This record gives sequence, C-alpha cells and structure tokens, in this order.
Amino acid sequence: MINQRYARITGWGKYVPARVLTNDDLAKMVDTSDEWITTRTGIKERRIRTENDTTSSMAVAASREALKVAGLSPKDLDLIIVATSSPDYLLPSVASQVQDMLGAECGAFTLVAGCSGWVYALTAASQYIVSGAYRRVLVVGVEIISFALDFTDRTTCVLFGDAAAATVVEVSDEPGGLLSFELGSDGSGAMFLYVPDGGSVSPMSQRTIDERRQYLRMDGPEVFKFAVRTLASSLKRAIYQAGLTPDDIDLFIPHQANARIIEAAARQMRVPLDKFYINLDRYGNTSAASVPLALVEAFEEGRLKDGDLVAMCAFGAGLTWASAVVQVGTGEVSAAHSLFSVGRARYLARRASDAVLDTAQSALLPLYSFLYQRRRRR
Ligand code: UT7
Repeated sequence: MINQRYARITGWGKYVPARVLTNDDLAKMVDTSDEWITTRTGIKERRIRTENDTTSSMAVAASREALKVAGLSPKDLDLIIVATSSPDYLLPSVASQVQDMLGAECGAFTLVAGCSGWVYALTAASQYIVSGAYRRVLVVGVEIISFALDFTDRTTCVLFGDAAAATVVEVSDEPGGLLSFELGSDGSGAMFLYVPDGGSVSPMSQRTIDERRQYLRMDGPEVFKFAVRTLASSLKRAIYQAGLTPDDIDLFIPHQANARIIEAAARQMRVPLDKFYINLDRYGNTSAASVPLALVEAFEEGRLKDGDLVAMCAFGAGLTWASAVVQVGTGEVSAAHSLFSVGRARYLARRASDAVLDTAQSALLPLYSFLYQRRRRR
C-alpha cells in the first residue's frame, strides 16, 4: 500500500542587508515625512543592499541557514526554486547561480509572480513532493527591489526594501505540511504595478534614461483596492478548502505591504489583529521575500509550535495573488485543534482508518498465505 505523501517545511533561514534606511533618511531625499509613511503604511525602516549584496548571494546566505535548520547538505536537494522579480541578470536564471554557489546537484528554476512568487513556489514544490517525484526542495524568496526604485518618486521609494528568505520542503508520511492553496492572476491589472522598459516590448534606450522608465511604477490606490478585496477573501477560500475555519488558524502571515491592508483583512475576517504577524515596520515590502521572511521570523521568535496552523497570503504585480494553509512542525495535533476543527478530525479519522487497514492486512496475511499455499498444493 502506497502511503500518502505530505510536504512539510523542515528548514528556514533569512538574510537581510546590513544597511538600514529609515523614514527620516528618506525625508532628506524626497518630499515625505516619517509621520506620512508611518500613518499611511506602518513602515518605519527598510533594508537596502550594500555593494557586497547580490540577489544570488542573499539567496545563498538565507538558503545555507535553512539547510542548517533542516539538517541537510546542499547535495541532499532534489530541486531549487527561486522566486524573484529582481534577478542578478535577465539571463541566466538566478536559480542556477544559487545552485552552483551552494554546491547543489539538482535542477533549479526561477519563478516570477511578483510579490506572490514565494507562495506560488511553495505550492509548486509541494506538488513535486506529493507526486513522489522529489523528496527535498529548496524554496527561496529574494529581492533587491531597490535597484528598480526611483528614489525621486515618493509614491514608490518609501514602500519597498531588500531581503531574502528560504525554506526547505521535505516529504513526510505524517499528515500536515501544505493543506490547501489558492493561486490567482488578473493580468488586466498589469499596468497598475510594472516596470515600463527593459523587456522585449520596450528595450532600454535613451528615452528609458530620460524618462526614468527603468523604474517601478505603481498606481497605489488601485493596488490598495485590489489588495483589500483579495487578502481576506483568498485567505478564507484557502482555509475553507482545508476543512478549517479562520478560528482554527493559529497565525496569519499576510504580505507585508501596508498595515492598513492587513487591518482591513483582520476586520473583514473578524480575527483579532494580534493573530496577524507583522514585521513591515522593520523591512517594508520586500516583494517575493515578504511572506517567507515573516514566516522565518515567526519561527525564530517562537510564535509557532508543532502542529500550529498557518494561513499565508501574498498579492502583487501581475496582478497575482496566492494563499496557502500549512500545518507546521512534526504534525502532532494539539488538543484544541482536535476538539474544534473539522479538518483535524478528518485527518485523525484518515490516520485511524489507515492504521486499522494496515493492522487488518497484517492480521489477515497468515490466512492469505495459508489459502494460497493450499491452492498451489492441489
Ligand atoms: O506588493 C505590491 C502591493 N503593493 C501595495 O499593496 C501597495 C498598495 N497601496 C498602498 O499601500 C497605498 O495606496 C500607498 C501607501 C501607496 C499610498 O497611500 P494612499 O493613502 O493610497 O495615498 P494616495 O496615493 O491616495 O496619495 C494621497 C496623497 C497624495 O497627495 P495629494 O494628491 O492628495 O496632494 C500623494 O501625492 O499623499 C501623497 N503622497 C505622499 N505624501 C508624502 C504619496 N506618497 C507620499 C509620500 N509622502 N511618500
């Protein structure tokens, strides 16, 4: 009998550049203030790459930490997925540089889905694992988004920061890990958040430089409306799909774009705000690194224990969104979960029925062999 496979997060690590850029620093560069940025976004400071940081070097630093937590060496990996919109080069794929720098011997690809990239990558990694194709996948979210920021445009440059976060996803026969997910895309909103030049439609030219078209442009209020519409509704769909309710979730990890968006989602879901992990005050919006960076810090701060249920949701350029519900740890189910959650009850029932079937099969085995031998002797 083939056991059901589950994809569990067994390692996590982060890298943030040493250079801190505060709201007051930005107020010296553009017409803004700590008061405006804090009240409109919740952001106080963000990290900006130093001359030694590249997208690949930051991804590798976070990955080494994640491998250490998982107790694995790079050679144990079967696949590397790097989610980013700010690779070292347009070509080659930055994932191959990460594979080489780590000394891994496996396939590697880069996944581009804006700020939703890491959640997309987590769900992709899980499919390789539950299908039986691979056992250990490294999933990285990394951005040096500062290179695409126009530091004369106050509407965008105050929002973003640089960071990397990595997770190891491994096969397990214990129920848990990724329980459900939702992936979404609405390309009709592409122009609400985009970089005009540098792609095949509009390659770099003198006009690019003159009109600052190599930098990210965003219609903030449009993206804000999309985010408020999407965050709570996508989270709820993923949670219900897992057979759970919002009350069952121990920690929500939302995309760290704006505290007002997170507060609106908490209100809509009737969930206390302190169940939402927030670190955007220290890092700003780190795009594809945002959700995994928050997850890593939640682990590091002891906010997550074995069996906890985590609901994550990211949204951004594309427009894209992605939600995932994950049970972290070894899969031991706490009394609270087993008492109150239909999903937990279903998992326990499935485990129990598997165990009964296994026992019954073992008990009947001597009888089968006896009947088989008797038939052969005739
Ligand atoms: O990861 C991708 C997802 N991205 C997001 O989720 C971002 C979503 N959008 C937002 O978070 C918000 O729309 C912003 C924080 C970007 C902007 O906040 P807002 O409350 O929507 O402000 P607004 O764009 O409507 O601008 C209000 C005023 C404008 O001035 P006027 O026209 O009213 O005189 C802006 O020019 O605030 C002005 N403003 C600023 N003032 C000081 C815009 N940026 C700044 C700034 N400092 N940095």
